[in-house]
Amino acid sequence: MKVLVIGGGAREHALCRSLSLDPDVNALYCAPGNAGIADVATLRPVDALDGDAVARLATDLGADLVVVGPEAPLVAGVGDAVRAAGIPVFGPSAEAAQLEGSKAFAKDVMAAAGVPTARSYVCTTPEEVDAALDAFGAPYVVKDDGLAAGKGVVVTEDLAAARAHALGCDRVVIEEFLDGPEVSLFGITDGVTVLPLQPAQDFKRALDGDEGPNTGGMGAYSPLPWADPKLVDEVMASVLQPTVDELRRRGTPFSGLLYAGLAITSRGVRVIEFNARFGDPETQVVLARLCTPLASVLLNAANGTLHTEPPLKWREDAAVTVVIASHNYPDTPRTGDPIEGLVEVAAEDEPEAYVLHAGTRREGDQIVSAGGRVLSVTATGSDLAQARGRAYKAVSRIRLDGSQHRTDIAAKAAGGH
Ligand code: AMP
Ligand code: GLY
Repeated sequence: MKVLVIGGGAREHALCRSLSLDPDVNALYCAPGNAGIADVATLRPVDALDGDAVARLATDLGADLVVVGPEAPLVAGVGDAVRAAGIPVFGPSAEAAQLEGSKAFAKDVMAAAGVPTARSYVCTTPEEVDAALDAFGAPYVVKDDGLAAGKGVVVTEDLAAARAHALGCDRVVIEEFLDGPEVSLFGITDGVTVLPLQPAQDFKRALDGDEGPNTGGMGAYSPLPWADPKLVDEVMASVLQPTVDELRRRGTPFSGLLYAGLAITSRGVRVIEFNARFGDPETQVVLARLCTPLASVLLNAANGTLHTEPPLKWREDAAVTVVIASHNYPDTPRTGDPIEGLVEVAAEDEPEAYVLHAGTRREGDQIVSAGGRVLSVTATGSDLAQARGRAYKAVSRIRLDGSQHRTDIAAKAAGGH
């Protein structure tokens, strides 16, 4: 099978790594990719947001399957353009991707499907904003309706800050605060059948102890030793399947990866958000644990034949990933700094620990930073403590001037709390 992956972050590196290990895949391309993905896939330049360009590339390559990684191309209709060219696509249509592209749309689908989520108001005027903030009280949860790369949400005790964020958005969702730990659970779906993946936990805040601003994600681990073993079944029944059924009922079936971001509250599981694609950095740890070869699962989802797939098989191993980010991330990051130590990780730590590239590019024989999140250092082990130790050992070999990473990824879970 010839597979083309669209995107160029650590999620796409993780996807390409898994696909490159799949005996069914005899040619693997990534567009535009990054300096690390070049080790496992052939890179092609493309504007990932240009559906016609992606469709032309897929046709020229003779791709049997196109996997669209990030949300922006999905929301822009890149999947539709490739499907129109007659090539199977893993990833939803633009209409179905509104589940991620518009928080108001997601709330509407959840209400219709009876999926548990935070109570919310959609506001477009300062009067509506004030009434909603007043109705819920602190802590305030204020979400830009549109795509914001994980940075459109403000959770704060400070009424003035909540109001300022809300007034800076055209349309804003203000909702009740959900307490309790967060879990990310993905379902692969063809619009009818849903295959759940293993749950993971993501660390969204920039600094240790969950301090600092929200980011795209600073690390993740899987499995979750503290979670109820019935969690996956429960989320399948109360969230993933009803959402997929509701979108099909509306005539906008969702195929691809349905990402449920959940809060495990004292009153039960609640959806915090949906995404329409593999989560980053959770994908890095979930795929590290997946035994089933990936390509046929993704192709069956693309072709509407997912019911032919047996349940996915998982390693007993645990996995941890730690994100190394540029100086100043999540504000405008500094880029162009050389990255050292990658060779040492490859020589000393692989295959138990390895580096997935996010924002990197090659300049001559140097690999330099090219984005906010630069690398996602991933490791496996017989338990979280071992995986964590290996991940941080590999992190310590990497030198990137001004870079930052959290030191507490999976620390609590590994300690048995
Ligand atoms: P989102 O982009 O919707 O995932 O929000 C980013 C982060 O904000 C989430 O991972 C949570 O940590 C936090 N958050 C979002 N909604 C809520 C909520 N209703 N209650 C508490 N925290 C929230
Ligand atoms: N890990 C959060 C996200 O992918 O949106």
